[in-house]
Amino acid sequence: MAKTKTTFFCQNCGAQFPKWIGKCNSCNEWNTIVEEVIQKEEAKSWKSPNTERKVTKALKLKEITAVNEERIGTFNNELNRVLGGGLVKGSVVLLGGEPGIGKSTLLLQIALRMKNKVLYVSGEESMTQIKLRADRLKNSNENCLILTETKTQHIFNVAQETAPDVIVIDSIQTLHTEYIEASPGSISQIRETASELIKYAKETDTPVVLIGHITKEGNIAGPKILEHMVDVVLQFEGDRNHTYRILRAQKNRFGSTAELGIYEMQHTGLREVDNPSEILISEKDSDLTGTAISATLEGMRPLMIEVQSLVSTAVYGTPQRSCTGYNIKRLNMLLAVLEKRAGFKLGAKDVFLNIAGGLRVEDPAIDLAVVSAVLSSNSEISIPQNICFAAEVGLAGEIRAISRVEQRIQEAEKLGFEKIILSKFSKIAKKNYKIEIIKVSKIEEVIKVLFQV
Ligand code: TYD
Ligand code: MG
Repeated sequence: MAKTKTTFFCQNCGAQFPKWIGKCNSCNEWNTIVEEVIQKEEAKSWKSPNTERKVTKALKLKEITAVNEERIGTFNNELNRVLGGGLVKGSVVLLGGEPGIGKSTLLLQIALRMKNKVLYVSGEESMTQIKLRADRLKNSNENCLILTETKTQHIFNVAQETAPDVIVIDSIQTLHTEYIEASPGSISQIRETASELIKYAKETDTPVVLIGHITKEGNIAGPKILEHMVDVVLQFEGDRNHTYRILRAQKNRFGSTAELGIYEMQHTGLREVDNPSEILISEKDSDLTGTAISATLEGMRPLMIEVQSLVSTAVYGTPQRSCTGYNIKRLNMLLAVLEKRAGFKLGAKDVFLNIAGGLRVEDPAIDLAVVSAVLSSNSEISIPQNICFAAEVGLAGEIRAISRVEQRIQEAEKLGFEKIILSKFSKIAKKNYKIEIIKVSKIEEVIKVLFQV
């Protein structure tokens, strides 16, 4: 038996130290260094220790034959889109998200919908729990095998016996390898089990999907290293009180990270939302003040999003500003612009802003809708429901052009909007749109168009 060896790991960034220190030299966090037992044996391959290694050879680029990576379709359009067309053979995908957001549901649903042989390994739930969940999901894949196991060596044994096309691991934090003595979920266990799985994936050409928990700060728990090791990092997010969930790629070695998948959580699992624009605009009977609709883009997909704002007289000396789904600093900046350029005295007003549907929007094209919603609430004049917006607002109160404007116009037209307000500098090649395009260059002009003052 080898001597017990321990090392000190930073639980935040995964850096390794020979002795305990109070502050991590690598990420500057305090009190994150923890001692872990790492007694390791020589071989740590997923196979038997004496596997022969291939001698590798360096090649010129032209000697390498380019083959398109083979992909396995997941029978889930949203996931396929985010992955860039399906699971690439031999790739490792990490799916992160808050507890209860629906990670297990999503992957079980996909495992049950696929035609391929899937090995679904759960270290978190019992067979009966999974069975109950599967019954709710109402899909059944004859080839889906369920395994409740946490020891990687046992998982590899089962995988060798059953030769699955895809392996799903729920979750990486519950796994442990017998080559290391640290407890499951610790940095060294996560690192080792992940590298064993990656090795397995590459050597057998089987895609492996890992579920990862995230910390309070929203990072995938465990070392950042995990994110560097895998091929694709997906983030499943959304407000738990809303039914909509968003799947984003943070890193993708085989596709774009700009794509987005939208789901709705129902009692029978996650429904794919094909046409998100329709659901993100709330239904209203009469003209309400303080709402404006923006034509935004998430990845390659145009989305019509409703911005809701409430401006009221401040009760306390310092006015409150609160945002849901939008950057509060950006809101403060836009309010300052309004104050300076349009003469609105918002300093004594509380301003609340909400993006409908529990989405988080980063697209600057939403600025003009934010400004308009605030103005509408402030002046108690509603914005006609047939108008939408797509432009960025600059510090000088200028209305700036945004990217891929035609795609936004088309989406607005498709959804029956009659007017779209854009920057004067937007370049539009096609001329014959049914929708009326109103071009503005300054905030003052927007006010004139909207409120005829
Ligand atoms: P789960 O997949 O267990 O979350 P995670 O693995 O990310 O922790 O999702 C659990 C939530 O999803 C739970 O609060 C109930 C809800 N849910 C539904 O609303 N409908 C369903 O069909 C299922 C299976 C779960
Ligand atoms: Mg789960």
